[in-house]
Amino acid sequence: MTEAIPAASPRVFSGVQPSGALHLGNYLGALVKFVALQHQMECLYCVVDLHAITAWQDPKQLAAQTREIAAAYFAAGVDPAKAIVFAQSAVPEHAELAWIFNCVARLGWLDRMIQFKEKSGKHKERSSVGLYTYPVLQAADILLYKATHVPVGEDQKQHLELTRDIAAKFNHDFDAEGFFPLTEALIEGPGARVMSLRDGLAKMSKSDPSDQSRINLTDDADAIAGKIRRAKTDPLPLSDSLEDLKARPEADNLVGIYAALSGETKAQVLATYGGQGFGQSFKPALADLLVERLSPVSAEMRRLLADPAEIDRTLAAGALRARAIAGPILAQTKAKVGFVGAA
Ligand code: TYM
Repeated sequence: MTEAIPAASPRVFSGVQPSGALHLGNYLGALVKFVALQHQMECLYCVVDLHAITAWQDPKQLAAQTREIAAAYFAAGVDPAKAIVFAQSAVPEHAELAWIFNCVARLGWLDRMIQFKEKSGKHKERSSVGLYTYPVLQAADILLYKATHVPVGEDQKQHLELTRDIAAKFNHDFDAEGFFPLTEALIEGPGARVMSLRDGLAKMSKSDPSDQSRINLTDDADAIAGKIRRAKTDPLPLSDSLEDLKARPEADNLVGIYAALSGETKAQVLATYGGQGFGQSFKPALADLLVERLSPVSAEMRRLLADPAEIDRTLAAGALRARAIAGPILAQTKAKVGFVGAA
């Protein structure tokens, strides 16, 4: 008989990889939502260093980047007294649950993962095994806390669908209906898919070789203004119709960035700037808005990073709180699988 399990209480989990500098896409797609959600639900925000090592990371750089992501969380407004902020590798339960899920997920499911295809490129056989099972670890991150909501950018949609598939199959296979929740991705809003400044059809990404393609969280005012001035557009003026943006990806992206930063809709942005050339007032206004929003974040990041030991202490305290939630859930999971012998 299936034991009755109460409906999952709302809980948020999300993570960012310490595999390079953070950019505007990470900020709008993830960090801004992290801050808003901490006032509504219990939140866990992780620096996913186990995921980062699926591609080679220089050990010293990895440590520095882990602190940098934590500093970015705090500088953006995540409050470690409210949300639980920690490094993934400090909570070994993630890797343990990932192993169990490796035995639940099917090869065919992983074969369909777009991100693996993009990241492994033409040389699949030279990729790490970890890169292939990466989405399984992501499912373990989320379900280790029975998280019900995951704020992410649109590029994570498929991984969140896989997380639901793994939860459903585990619940079915182990006669544990409702044990793991079917987690919901929180993706909506104009910041969910920020595109490259050089190509409106490619997403803004840490791995793009051109630094001109992205606004880094640590860019200064001059760098931001220069990148926006040079951002690719087309020769036509901005129109005031939303319909018109559909066929103009670069214009659509810049308007979307403005909307996400200002809290306006794209239609409101067009109502102000439509009918004018990009350079006339829209691009300068966008650059000003970016500087206004990002410079306090990068200044606070610099301040926090001057004291790495304090960041380490905050992460260690977060890991303890995370383990207090993860431990019992992993223990119940292992009991369902049939493992005996644990204390
Ligand atoms: P990562 O480190 O690549 O990106 C961190 C977050 O930023 C979002 N993002 C974007 N959003 C809008 N526009 C963009 N151009 C853009 N680029 C990145 C990502 O969607 C993400 O929300 N697999 C995850 C990390 C992860 C995770 C998890 C996330 C591991 N375990 C559990 C949620 C829950 C990743 O690689 O994110």
